[in-house]
This record gives sequence, C-alpha cells and structure tokens, in this order.
Amino acid sequence: MSEEERQALIGMIRGFLRETDAVAVLTGAGVSAESGIPTFRDAQTGLWAKYDPMELATPQAFARDPALASRWYDERRRKSADCEPNPGHLALVRLQGEFEAAEKRFTLITQNVDRLHQRAGSRDPLELHGTFWVWRCTSCGEEREERTVPLPEYPPRCHCGGTRRPGVVWFGEALPEAVLTKAWRAAEGCGLFMSLGTSSVVEPAASLCRIAADAGAKTVEINPQETPLSSWVDVSVRGTTGELLPTISSAWE
Ligand code: OAD
Repeated sequence: MSEEERQALIGMIRGFLRETDAVAVLTGAGVSAESGIPTFRDAQTGLWAKYDPMELATPQAFARDPALASRWYDERRRKSADCEPNPGHLALVRLQGEFEAAEKRFTLITQNVDRLHQRAGSRDPLELHGTFWVWRCTSCGEEREERTVPLPEYPPRCHCGGTRRPGVVWFGEALPEAVLTKAWRAAEGCGLFMSLGTSSVVEPAASLCRIAADAGAKTVEINPQETPLSSWVDVSVRGTTGELLPTISSAWE
C-alpha cells in the first residue's frame, strides 16, 4: 500500500467519523504492542509462539498447576505495570471525548486484559476477556482488584481459604454475559465500527464487525497485517494504531 493510498483511506475514515453519531471500536493486543506488551499471534514475538495456551490459559491448566498459571498471569501483570499507554490509546480517549461532548455514542470494546485503555483515560471500556488486575476466588467467588505487584504467593489465597485465579476469560470459558450483550448491542446500533489491532480469529469478538456491517454500519480495520476482515470491510488500512489513530482522531480539525 503506497503512502498516497494510505492517506486516501485515512481521509475516508475521518469522513466516516464526522458523519456518524454512534461509533463502536473493538481493540485487540495490537493496540498495546507499541506500549511494549507482546501480542498473542505475531510470529516470533507473540505469546502463543513461546507458550502453549493449553498449558496456561484454560481452566484445566489452572486445575493441574495453579502455581504455574497464576505466576504466568502475574508476570504479565507486573510487566504491563511498567508499560505506558501509547499514542493509539490516547487518540481513542480523545475520540471518546469528542463524541461524548457532541452527545454522540462512543463504545470502546476491548479484548485486552492489561487496562492500558483505562490508564490512558478511556471511560468504561467493555472488557470482553476480563482483566488480570482482578483476581477471583474459585471457592467463594469474591473478586478483588490487585494493585500490588507481584502477588505474595502462587496461587494467591482468598481469606475464605480458597484459591484465587486471574479474572480473565480462558479458552473454553464463556465471556461475561452482560459485557457481551452490551458489545453486541453497540455493534448492532453503531454507524461506524472500527476493528483495531486484532487478528479477528477469536470468537465471539471476531464476529462483532460482521454484526455491525449486517446492520448497515460502515466498517474499518487498522492492522499492519491482513486479517479475515480485510477483504470485506469498507476500509482496511495497513499500519499501526499508534501511528495512524492520532491523525484519524483529529477528524474535527
Ligand atoms: P492477536 O495476537 O491474535 O492479534 C494481534 C493483531 O495485532 C495482529 O493481527 C497483528 O498484526 C496486529 N498488530 C501488531 N502490532 C500492531 C500495532 N502496532 N498496531 C496495530 N495492530 C498491530 O491478538 P488479539 O486479536 O487481541 O484471548 O487476540 C484475541 C484473543 O486471543 C486475546 O484476547 C487472547 C488471545 O488468546 C484470551 O486470552 C482469552
């Protein structure tokens, strides 16, 4: 894609933003990549290139070796605490502000568990896959936000004596229903859906863009690589979100 083509596509996205009164944005690990947080599926650098998700990110893996799985999530939590939101996160905060000031709808839906959107200043993102900042007791169900890093023991214990697990969604588990319902409604009701920094292979998140398109929304993707969405969305731009979102979010200037 030449720079000229890219600029033309960016111009189209800015036009879509100006025209719509409801935008839904879905983010994936790529949006945190420029903060120094590894993605899952990028060759070489992706977490799933180094680790087997079946050994760490399933209920069975946690039951088999809770110390190993909880240490791995806590290690990611500790590393993310040392990372800062990048210009892509900040551009989304700005967009949300512009939309809300104009009494238009802006829904941020994220698959990321690192809470960098919240640290950047995004309000109420829908966390489809939970977060590793909250840990839940597998006995009494109590959820508690953990601010200190690292945790004192693996697996961490609840005051009831139970074992606590990271508040993320593992392979084979259902997504939090209320959060998914809100995301679904935002996709169905938006005029513009933007899929940012996600490989779009994990369901049900991957289907949200299609739901929006079927309901008549314009659809946009930003990703350095092609994804299963690239061939059918209205605009697919090759590039990073840290580079492109700041320009796109200045749609009103
Ligand atoms: P993936 O690792 O599958 O995909 C990351 C995407 O980000 C890829 O398509 C990259 O091309 C793209 N990317 C890389 N750097 C980027 C950048 N600087 N700017 C924009 N895009 C960039 O991550 P997700 O799609 O988020 O689930 O993965 C979805 C889910 O699979 C995750 O939430 C996680 C994982 O298994 C659970 O743990 C439940």
